[in-house]
Amino acid sequence: MTTGTTLVLGSTGKTGRRVAQRLRARGLPVRPGSRAGAPPFDWQDQATWAPALRGVHAAYVSYYPDLAVPGAATTIRSFATLAVGLGIRRLVLLSGRGEEGAKHSEQAVQESGADWTILRSSWFSQNFSEDFLLESVRGGEVALPAGNMAEPFIDVEDIADVAVAALTEDGHAGCLYELTGPRLLTFAEAVAEIAAAAGREVQYLPVSTEQYAAVLAAHGIPAEVTWLLTYLFTDVLDGRNAHLADGVRCALGRQPRDFTDYARITAATGVWGEMEQGV
Ligand SMILES: NC(=O)c1ccc[n+]([C@@H]2O[C@H](COP(=O)([O-])OP(=O)(O)OC[C@H]3O[C@@H](n4cnc5c(N)ncnc54)[C@H](OP(=O)(O)O)[C@@H]3O)[C@@H](O)[C@H]2O)c1
Repeated sequence: MTTGTTLVLGSTGKTGRRVAQRLRARGLPVRPGSRAGAPPFDWQDQATWAPALRGVHAAYVSYYPDLAVPGAATTIRSFATLAVGLGIRRLVLLSGRGEEGAKHSEQAVQESGADWTILRSSWFSQNFSEDFLLESVRGGEVALPAGNMAEPFIDVEDIADVAVAALTEDGHAGCLYELTGPRLLTFAEAVAEIAAAAGREVQYLPVSTEQYAAVLAAHGIPAEVTWLLTYLFTDVLDGRNAHLADGVRCALGRQPRDFTDYARITAATGVWGEMEQGV
């Protein structure tokens, strides 16, 4: 059982926020790690790392924007080395399932000398409600270059549960958990579930990668973000992830949450209401 301060990186993001909430609910001290933290933590500014790491003995490591981007593994290796040098004993890394580049970052953490746990996760269900797909859902049309590919979307509540177990309990050191939901869904099926739960029309429109990139460019999305999104849709969603894994059950001894429950609970918050005119 861990009782010291835990640094939670990405503490204002989808998983980090939930990890921090869970630790605090257990009365465990948390140091929020983001550019808005005190002290601030910035992946792009190594001078911010040591102040965030001092006095901490475990860290939840959610990298931004993605472990697939060039240079991420070098950054993660530098961070893990510094962390261990400053006395951190436990590192829990959020990774992406099917991302070849992410494996280099996983290796860096595995070789750091800390007790490590890797959370190799599939696509988050919450991308539809807390990230780049929210606006599309609210606008009634989700146009993506995902064809008819099936993905075992995972609820980030499950990732947070596994992360907290790995941060606070014995028995997770040296474990690489592949975290998926309990069911494969195509994007068309996922959007249909959301539409049914929200009680409104939302369509999925399959588009080509080129069409998708052109739309992003027309909306002024930076080139590196367009590269990342098209990489994720072309490489990661090429079928390599179209199977289930048992990481949630291995780590927690229970089944992962189903997409239908995610859609029902999220719809009840009203987040998928239609956009107002002019918004
Ligand atoms: N989304 C998915 O489906 C999925 C699937 C598998 C793995 N992942 C992995 O999850 C990780 C998080 O991605 P996400 O899209 O879910 O984002 P997120 O965690 O929801 O949000 C980003 C977080 O990172 C922080 N952040 C942004 N820029 C930062 C910087 N330069 N330095 C330090 N912190 C920074 C933000 O806080 P501030 O703005 O306050 O700094 C925020 O807390 C990525 O490594 C990704 O590969 C995502």
